[in-house]
Amino acid sequence: MSSQPAHPALLIPGPIEFDDAVLQSMGHYSESHVGAGFVATFGETLSLLRLLFQTTNPASQPFVISGSGTLGWDLVAANLVEPGENALVLSTGYFGDGFADCLRAYGANVTKLDGPVGGRPQLPDMVTALQEKKYKVLTVTHVDTSTGVLSELKSLAAAVKKVSPETLVIVDGVCSVACEELAFDEWGLDGVVTASQKAIGCPAGLSISMFSGRSIEAVKNRKTEPATYFASMRRWLPTNNPAVMQNYEAKKPSYFATPSPQLIHALNTALKQIMARPLAERFQKHIEVSDRVKKTVTDLGLEIVASKPEDQSHAMTAIYLPEKIAIPDLLPRLLNKGIIFAGGIHKEIGTKYVRFGHMGVTAVDPSRHDVDNALKALQDALAECGYKKA
Ligand SMILES: Cc1ncc(COP(=O)(O)O)c(C=O)c1O
Repeated sequence: MSSQPAHPALLIPGPIEFDDAVLQSMGHYSESHVGAGFVATFGETLSLLRLLFQTTNPASQPFVISGSGTLGWDLVAANLVEPGENALVLSTGYFGDGFADCLRAYGANVTKLDGPVGGRPQLPDMVTALQEKKYKVLTVTHVDTSTGVLSELKSLAAAVKKVSPETLVIVDGVCSVACEELAFDEWGLDGVVTASQKAIGCPAGLSISMFSGRSIEAVKNRKTEPATYFASMRRWLPTNNPAVMQNYEAKKPSYFATPSPQLIHALNTALKQIMARPLAERFQKHIEVSDRVKKTVTDLGLEIVASKPEDQSHAMTAIYLPEKIAIPDLLPRLLNKGIIFAGGIHKEIGTKYVRFGHMGVTAVDPSRHDVDNALKALQDALAECGYKKA
């Protein structure tokens, strides 16, 4: 039994429902951010991230910095690309477009390849683009939270390596890390940026990322100073004194900007829970839950925004509403039944669909019944709205 006050199940695609032990870790007594106790926790947390991202390469560098997922975009845009350098952005929705905007804000010359609504840009188009110009970075959103479209990271990264091996492959994993398979070393990724509040299952407030040795070299070899102070990777790295992230991992006190000890404790607890079981099992559970959701939704006669099964994320499901039923008809009815879904945010179809997040404890904790409750609530709420399957 959860010790949390009774509340509607938060089944939006992040923040997600949190485990009791994770939330209780936020209540840790106050510690010095350079004291031995906290530094040991932070160091262990960084090492746990190597396991989660599946990297054993000592050149890989984890970062945990106070901020939200968007700060990961700034880390990439401010540090890996110099003004005027080319960036190729593969967009599968709102968040791919946002990454492109962030890159432009720091002066990158951005080319964006858009998938159709609910689909991905095609690999041959990406290959053609890479053959036409030299790109410093390619960015891809692993799961675009606006559409629930999953990108084919493994084959995409392999194709980039073949056509343009010097291009850094950067992944927005905000809605995929800890629920979708992601093998940093094996797939040859150069950067994955994510956040605490989705499948990792820790309250919002942490930008979490992993960069390859190649990315770190690119940062060291910049000709221009990054146009940021807080998000300058040089200030968190060994080129700078003190080498904040490396010192923490070596359990040595360090300071650049004050971390949140309570959030780091919560992240530490969440990562220990995740790593207590094989990652493959966790990914499989997310697949099974997602399959069940998608089958029930299509059996109800509804359409999924990510139209092809191979493009569908296992973190969430974006569901088109039946004609004549609007978001304000459905969401309050779901709330009355104890379920919170999110509305749509894609610029072309925002009013026509809702989003159901099924990540983290909702998918893997057998004592929870979020998914069954949500599917039943959806069915009942639609019936109340007068919906009948055609
Ligand atoms: C795929 C993706 N990228 C980036 C972000 C931005 O993260 P945040 O809202 O934590 O800044 C989000 C947020 O939902 C997201 O889903």
